[in-house]
Amino acid sequence: MSRFYVTTPIFYVNDAPHVGHAYTALNADAMARWHRLLGSDVWFLTGTDEHGLKVARSAEENGRTPLEQADVNSARFREAWELLNVSNNDFIRTTEPRHHQAVQALLTAAKDNGWIRKGTYEGWYCVGCEAYYDDEDLDDGNCRVHQRPAEHMVEDNWFFALSEFEEPLRQWYEDNPNAVAPDGYRNEALGIINGGLRDVSISRSSIDWGVPVPWDQDHVFYVWYDALINYATAVGYDADSERFARWWPACTHVIGKDILRFHCVYWPAMLLAAGVTDLPDVRVHGFLLLGGEKMSKSGNVTAISPAEMVDEFGVDGFRYSILRDNPFGPDSEFSYENLLTRYNGDLANAYGNLLQRVITVVGKKCDGLGPAPQPNSPLAAVAAASVADATQAWSQTRAALALEATWRLVRETNEYLQANEPWKMEPGAAVNAVMGDAVEALRIATILASPAIPTAAAEAWRRLGLSGTVDQQRVPDDVAWGQYPGGIALVAGEPLFPRIKAG
Ligand code: MSP
Repeated sequence: MSRFYVTTPIFYVNDAPHVGHAYTALNADAMARWHRLLGSDVWFLTGTDEHGLKVARSAEENGRTPLEQADVNSARFREAWELLNVSNNDFIRTTEPRHHQAVQALLTAAKDNGWIRKGTYEGWYCVGCEAYYDDEDLDDGNCRVHQRPAEHMVEDNWFFALSEFEEPLRQWYEDNPNAVAPDGYRNEALGIINGGLRDVSISRSSIDWGVPVPWDQDHVFYVWYDALINYATAVGYDADSERFARWWPACTHVIGKDILRFHCVYWPAMLLAAGVTDLPDVRVHGFLLLGGEKMSKSGNVTAISPAEMVDEFGVDGFRYSILRDNPFGPDSEFSYENLLTRYNGDLANAYGNLLQRVITVVGKKCDGLGPAPQPNSPLAAVAAASVADATQAWSQTRAALALEATWRLVRETNEYLQANEPWKMEPGAAVNAVMGDAVEALRIATILASPAIPTAAAEAWRRLGLSGTVDQQRVPDDVAWGQYPGGIALVAGEPLFPRIKAG
C-alpha cells in the first residue's frame, strides 16, 4: 500500500490563528483526504511551534510565562482546526518531551558526523522571522517581511556547516525534479543554493526558552532548528525506528513561500548531516493578501479569524470557497465578495440545487427510487474527464483546479436536466433514464468533492441512499461510471447550502 505523510508548518503561538494559517491547513487537509480516497495509508501532522524569542516576548507582553502563552495559543490552533474539520492524525507541540528528545538526537547525530562546530556570530536578527539577515537582505535596516528594524546581535554559537551541503543539495534537486513544486519555487530554492550557502548559527546563549543543546548547558537550539525537526519527531525519529522507516521519506510538507528557505535548503541539509539521505517533498503556496498586503497578525492589515468565516459560510462553505478561489502557488487577494460569489454560484446554486432537484424529481416521477444510469449516457464521458482532470490536479496539489474539474460535472449535469426537462415528463423509461444518469453523476461528483466539503458530501451520500460512507469510497474504482445500482430510496432534506445574501 502506498503511503502519504503530509504536514502543515507548525504555527507560532505568539498569537491566534487567522485565515492565512487556515489556508495552509486546509490545503494539507484536502490533500490528506484525497490520498485517503486513493487508498493510501495516510498520516497527517499539524501542530505548534512554541520556542524562540518571538514567543518569549509575546508571553512577556501578555504577563504570562512562555509555557502559559504556548498552552493558551496552542489550544486556539487546535480548536480552530477542529472547527474547520481538519483531519490531522497528530498535533505536535514543540514543548513536548518526545520532541526535545528527537531534536537532541538528530542534532547530536549531525555533530557526531562533524557538521556542527563552535564559532562567533554577528548579524542582523529579525525577531518576527526568527532569522538572521545579511545587510543586502534588508531595506534600510528593515526586515522585508515585517517592515521593522532588524536587531544587531553578537553571539558565541554553535554553527551548522551548511556551506558544505551546496553540492549534495544541488544534486538532490537535479535527481528529484519534483521535490519542490510549483516550478517557480523549485527555481527559487535552486537560486538560493546556487547563490552560495554560508554556515549558520544554530544555538543561542542569550535566551533559555528552547531545547537545550545536550553537549553545552549554556545554549538552547535556535528555534528554527528545533522546529523543523518536528516532522521527524512525530513519526518516531530516534524513538521508534520501525515507525520512522515506515513514514520516511513518503513525506510532503505543505508550506507558505515565506518559509521556503528553511524547508528547501536548511532542513534537507540538516537531514543529510544527520545521515538521513532520503528527503521530503515540499509544496509551496503564496500569501493570502488583504488590500495587496499579506494577511498577518503583526502587519498593518486586520487578520480575519477562521471562526468569522465559518459563521458566514459554514465549515464546508468556507473550506470550498477558499480552496476554489485561491489557487495554490501564487499570491491571491482574499475577498469576502469572491467567496460569497463562489459559495452562491458553486455550492448553493450548482451542487446544492442539483441535489435538491434530483431528489424532488425522483420523488415525483420515479416513486422516490433512484433509477439505474444508462451505460452510454452522455454524462459518462463528462464524468470520466472530470475524474481524470481532478486526479491529475490533486496529484499536483492544485485544489482549485481539481474542484474546477469536479464542478464541470456538476454544471453539465444541471444542464443535462435543463435540456431534458424531466420534471415535464410522464413517469416511465425516458424520465428514469435521465434521472438515473443524474443520480450517478451526482454520486461521482460527491466523491470527488469530498476532500473540500467532507460534511456536506457525507450528508449528500446519505440522502442519495448509498451504502457505506463517502470516505470509504476509492478512486478510481468507485468513481467509474455505472456503479450506482438503482432502485434505492432517496432521502429529502433541507438545502445543504442555503443561499447567502451579501451582508
Ligand atoms: N513556525 C513557523 C513554521 C515552522 S515549520 C517547521 C511559522 N509559523 S507561522 O505561524 O508564522 O506560519 C505558519 C504558516 O502559515 C506558514 O506556512 C505561512 O506561510 C502561513 N501563513 C501565514 N500567513 C499567511 C497568509 N497571509 N497567507 C497564506 N499563508 C500564510 O512560519
